[in-house]
Amino acid sequence: MAPTRDEKCTHMFSQRNATRQRFQRTNHIRTISNTIYILLMYASLIGLASADVPLRVLPRQAGEWGNWAYRNLSTWRSTIFGRTQQFIVSKNNSEYPPAWERFDLFQPFISCPPGRTLRRVGQGDGGKWLCDPSTLNAPCTIISLGSGMEFTFERGILADTPCKVLTADCTVTGSILSERHTFLPLCVGSAAAAQRSNQFTTYEALVTRAQVEAVPVLKIDVEAFEYPVFAEWHEHTAALPEQIAVEVHWGEGDTPFNEPGPEFKPQWGRGSLSVSDLSLFFFHLANLGYGIINQERNLNCDQCSEFTLLRVESVPRNGRTLRRFAP
Ligand SMILES: *[C@@H]1O[C@H](CO)[C@@H](O)[C@H](O)[C@H]1NC(C)=O
Ligand SMILES: *[C@@H]1O[C@H](CO)[C@@H](O)[C@H](O)[C@H]1NC(C)=O
Repeated sequence: MAPTRDEKCTHMFSQRNATRQRFQRTNHIRTISNTIYILLMYASLIGLASADVPLRVLPRQAGEWGNWAYRNLSTWRSTIFGRTQQFIVSKNNSEYPPAWERFDLFQPFISCPPGRTLRRVGQGDGGKWLCDPSTLNAPCTIISLGSGMEFTFERGILADTPCKVLTADCTVTGSILSERHTFLPLCVGSAAAAQRSNQFTTYEALVTRAQVEAVPVLKIDVEAFEYPVFAEWHEHTAALPEQIAVEVHWGEGDTPFNEPGPEFKPQWGRGSLSVSDLSLFFFHLANLGYGIINQERNLNCDQCSEFTLLRVESVPRNGRTLRRFAP
């Protein structure tokens, strides 16, 4: 016997009800599994936060300046690849523009913190542009690598700050300027060079040996040895400086890249460093939190330029702390 219209309706209705119940059950299960998923996500985030992970943080002098410095560094990092390509195209597709033109892509993009104007410390060739260091408090150690018996920077910074000053250079006999000044007859280079020759050391070994806590300024003028020195640096390297005054060289000049051992030939078999090589160098520093605050062509050497960099971003010293400011 065929079902009546009412029976059909009731049947359809109960079927629909069963479907709805099934659907609600599925929904419940979905809600529960979503909750579990979210809980797991939180758990793994907490796990990550307590593990020793590199983490970028804002500098101590956060505020308006810090936020802008951080933003400028971030923008620089994310655009340098494209701008390197455009720059090379603008130089008639040459990676080797002549003289100081090769440095033109690396213009300053970070300003000094409020109350610390950019100024020159020391006279003449040894003078360096720095965000005013006279507000520094002891204990602090300023490191000067490569002196060529030219100590005007050391004299200037000893007069302007209460910091100790450590000069290292294996090519000269050295000199001691005050009771706050130390001279070590050592050159700083790669770990491979340090293993091969006892005249060489690495940055980390030097700061450990000198028991240095904080390095507000590193001055480095070492005729292209800056590449093996900075190549050793990573996010957790001890006592990375707040400011770096570096003479950057794109050519061998009169001094060959004569670090002992073949492991590090910065010109990679070529006569000089290209724009791309320099981009990679400044990108490495930007990745460690350093932004360019000043550039000055060295008028005595057309393959050389002075740069000052300031660290505006760093990882916490203790990876377990979520928000600790830069040193
Ligand atoms: C640019 O490159 C082209 C082709 O190699 C060459 O003919 C021209 O002289 C170059 N121009 C400049 C300004 O170097
Ligand atoms: C950020 O860059 C702008 C120019 O793009 C500049 O005017 C400003 O001073 C920079 N700020 C900091 C804190 O570096």
